[in-house]
Amino acid sequence: MNLTTQRRPICELSDDLISQIAAGEVVERPASVVRELVDNAVDAGARQITVRLQAGGVRLIAVEDDGFGIPRGELPVALRRHATSKIASLADLESVGTMGFRGEALAAICSISDMRVASRVLDSGHAWQLDGRTGELSAAARTTGTTVEVRELFYATPARRKFLKTDATELAHCIEAVRRQAMVRPDVGFAVWHDGKLVEQWHACTGLALQDQRLRHVLGSQFFEQSVAVDHTSAAIRDDGTPLIRVWGRAGLPDAARARADQQFAYVNGRFVRDKVIGHAARSAYQDVLHGHRQPVYALYVDIAPARVDVNVHPTKIEVRFRDSREVHSAVRHAVESALALPRSALQSSAGLPPAAAIIEHLGAFGALNRPVAQLTYAQAAPVFVANTNRGVSDVEAMWPRPQPQLQPPSSQPEVADALQTWRLGRAIAQLQGIYILAENAQGLVVVDMHAAHERVVYERLKAQMDTARIQSQPLLIPATFAASPLEVATAESACETLALLGLDITPFSSKTLAVRAVPTSLAHGDAVQLARSVLAELALHEASTVVQRAQNEILSTMACHGAVRANRSLTVDEMNALLRQMEATERSDQCNHGRPTWRQVSIKELDALFMRGR
Ligand SMILES: Nc1ncnc2c1ncn2[C@@H]1O[C@H](COP(=O)(O)OP(=O)(O)O)[C@@H](O)[C@H]1O
Ligand SMILES: [Mg+2]
Repeated sequence: MNLTTQRRPICELSDDLISQIAAGEVVERPASVVRELVDNAVDAGARQITVRLQAGGVRLIAVEDDGFGIPRGELPVALRRHATSKIASLADLESVGTMGFRGEALAAICSISDMRVASRVLDSGHAWQLDGRTGELSAAARTTGTTVEVRELFYATPARRKFLKTDATELAHCIEAVRRQAMVRPDVGFAVWHDGKLVEQWHACTGLALQDQRLRHVLGSQFFEQSVAVDHTSAAIRDDGTPLIRVWGRAGLPDAARARADQQFAYVNGRFVRDKVIGHAARSAYQDVLHGHRQPVYALYVDIAPARVDVNVHPTKIEVRFRDSREVHSAVRHAVESALALPRSALQSSAGLPPAAAIIEHLGAFGALNRPVAQLTYAQAAPVFVANTNRGVSDVEAMWPRPQPQLQPPSSQPEVADALQTWRLGRAIAQLQGIYILAENAQGLVVVDMHAAHERVVYERLKAQMDTARIQSQPLLIPATFAASPLEVATAESACETLALLGLDITPFSSKTLAVRAVPTSLAHGDAVQLARSVLAELALHEASTVVQRAQNEILSTMACHGAVRANRSLTVDEMNALLRQMEATERSDQCNHGRPTWRQVSIKELDALFMRGR
């Protein structure tokens, strides 16, 4: 008989076994212990928390704090399962403000390790130490606060111990656990020691802008300089008059995005979480400005009425459930989107930029390509059979900003100096290779990719029109007809309402010919047939979905690409200046629709360095 299928009698699990199983949910690796103990220290009002580790935390994890301590009589209770000082009723759970509340961590950790807790409360003569294995209480020496020592983690469950990674990996996870708490508690100092060496330290911040100081320390000044402040409060108000949701923190600029999603930190009411709603909302805020599969970086803090979020859905509380995930999604998305939409100040942008050498490399790469990538994608897609646009004017003139006399930089010297101060992107000096505009501002040299920049300006204008109603349309005097594929004809017929929203009127002329009868006013002088074909191709792609915002933006982006000035068109200085002024006035104008930068600053300092001046 097969032993494994032999039935055993039903019996109750021993308490010991139950607690070990429960421990498995909370304690996966040393970092889980570090997290629970640091959470407890924070809940005890600690100002300084010191974590000491040996062998990646497997041999020893000791967390020492200067919090309010545990009185002698309560020490044994603290190690019992479901024993907590943090909530007393279900109602408390709905407004829990502490990191802990399940009363499980100490019991769980105790059941799988050799644990000792030493603690001293304020008005006690000395500290008391409890041995978790023997239950023995003895007098100990220490100042007010608590030290929890955890030795030989998983000693009783070698199978689990085998799953641990190298000491270095476990150490990295332990540090990450402390970092996550450090990012939300700038008022608390943290130190991490490993095998007798100090490996990480964040001093308690004082003075103004604590959070900024801490983020700078934890994530580095590069993160800080390449990010913008986020702060948005939802319009809806709670009963007590405070806003329903506040989203704040910092969002990395598109340039700072990374290949991996390893710098995305989200907090809900001070608790680090992995949350799909927040992640998706943040991601969609970058949709318009981020290139391909790049991952944005951010540290976002969501403050929400406790009753609107359930933190008790996961043993480690890393997941939460929102009562209304849509309100959170829209608050986060809006917060990040509006922070990114503000054009960067020249000061801020030059601070986080790569050195001149990198910029010159960048110029080289684009120069070799000789035209922006965006153009390649659509131009190939649409061979023109009957180019019947009846127009002598190129597409450039259509959207090209007419130079406005009052915006022209004056030529006399003192006023030029003024102009450099006033205009973020400065005054145009010259055009390079038919691709770049060179301008001068107070910081030095500005290099603008004119197609990319103009494309964004046109795109934002189309989006703005789309938001207010529909895109303004202009009938063509003579319809532009072209030989169309059956798919194009079918798409034009089925999507005629969407086309109307987009300012386009494309109707069958015969079974194999389509006629473009109206185009968006702002693209009126462009190539109507090219535009029609591109939009139809996009629509065919998105046909299945009802035209959601995303598809809509992609279509507008395609249209903008058509409307934008092409490479190799020479511009007058006035035209260049007009574009610079439009960029300054346009949201998100620092990136083109495909997430590439539209302009770069080369500072005088970088130019000096190139020529080794001032050394
Ligand atoms: N570092 C500490 N300082 C003061 N009290 C502590 C500390 N760690 C644990 N405690 C006490 O022990 C109790 C049990 O801790 P724990 O098992 O982590 O459960 P929880 O944090 O969910 O309450 C806590 O409610 C708290 O009263
Ligand atoms: Mg706890």
